[in-house]
Amino acid sequence: MLESLTLTNFKAFARQEIRLAPFTLLTGLNSSGKSSVLQALALLRQSYDSGDLSPAYGHEAGLLLNDELVQLGTGQDVRHEAYDDETGPHIALALRGDGGTARWTAVYEREADHLKLVPAEQGIQQEPAALLPSLFGPGFQYLKADRVSPQVSYPRSHHAVTTRGFLGAHGEHTVNYLRTHQDEPVTGKALRLPDAASAGLLAQTEAWMQRLCPGVRLVAEDIHGTDAVRLGYHFGSGFSESNQYRPTNVGFGLTYVLPVVVACLSARPGTLILLENPEAHLHPQGQTWMAYLACATAASGAQVVMETHSDHVLNGLRLQVKNGRLAADGTAVHYFRRKGQTTEVVSPIIGPDGTLSEWPEGFFDEWENSLDQLLD
Ligand SMILES: Nc1ncnc2c1ncn2[C@@H]1O[C@H](COP(=O)(O)OP(=O)(O)OP(=O)(O)O)[C@@H](O)[C@H]1O
Ligand SMILES: [Mg+2]
Repeated sequence: MLESLTLTNFKAFARQEIRLAPFTLLTGLNSSGKSSVLQALALLRQSYDSGDLSPAYGHEAGLLLNDELVQLGTGQDVRHEAYDDETGPHIALALRGDGGTARWTAVYEREADHLKLVPAEQGIQQEPAALLPSLFGPGFQYLKADRVSPQVSYPRSHHAVTTRGFLGAHGEHTVNYLRTHQDEPVTGKALRLPDAASAGLLAQTEAWMQRLCPGVRLVAEDIHGTDAVRLGYHFGSGFSESNQYRPTNVGFGLTYVLPVVVACLSARPGTLILLENPEAHLHPQGQTWMAYLACATAASGAQVVMETHSDHVLNGLRLQVKNGRLAADGTAVHYFRRKGQTTEVVSPIIGPDGTLSEWPEGFFDEWENSLDQLLD
């Protein structure tokens, strides 16, 4: 498990250490730096995947700014604009966890999209996947806010879903993953819902989706003679079972949340899941269920780092702690707010009874603000 990430001169951050727990929640106003934290982790992962973190591949080690997971631009885009003499001109990312630490310092080059790493400071004698397996090992998922919209068909890539076990940064491989792995048991005990038809991935996915839309059932199948797969929905069962509907004729929220559900249910102990706004397009009760799902994922040994704008997600997490489903010290909550050109982070602590140690101004206080005005 990753325990902390330190960002130096990276986008909105001059220097910021962020504590990471089994379930880490990143909150705050728009454009306050939440996604940038996930991007820093994704940047390391994509640089590793392409061989750029590891000099053993025979080329110069560096951070690859634009590839499959994130497209960050050039050095000028990623270096914190207001860097000072104390932090120096370079960009650095440091990680602690999995029993190891590592720091990557990249030399600033304004127009480069491959930032060379300072050799003396790579500090990585070991293979990154051996040092920090949760970030660099198998099972990693990163689902961005802009997930694929409901479609009539989805890509079919054996390499993505079987060799890599990857759902795609936009969730584009989810339907094929579900088709391929549908009978594999969900291993996390906390993740298995007792009312599901079986412990298999498809049955459990249906059971979690039924928390959002009662009676929904899923079909993930190939389209004969093509390189595509399709998703189908049924509602009800027996005599009252509906026809099979295509995703474009079913509510947006169901298909939009499917990658999040599959990512959590297929997680294994030690794997890392980065989620941006899993609550998007869900009604409030469904948003609370997203928190329950992420808590169950963390309680099953995987690590979740989630950006959210939802007080229902926060309250769902607090409830799960209060109900003993996730240890209070298994959580980290960070509230990001801009201060001049940089971002500062306040980190309220969740107690075992679900209470929060502090409520900084602007931190999910809109209910009270609106109520105060209504009662005035
Ligand atoms: N090179 C840079 N130097 C300083 N600040 C930067 C730099 N690049 C981006 N930023 C700042 O980072 C912020 C964007 O952060 P990010 O995309 O992480 O926001 P967010 O909190 O995820 O927002 P949202 O809630 O809308 O998803 C913006 O405020 C932008 O001004
Ligand atoms: Mg964001």
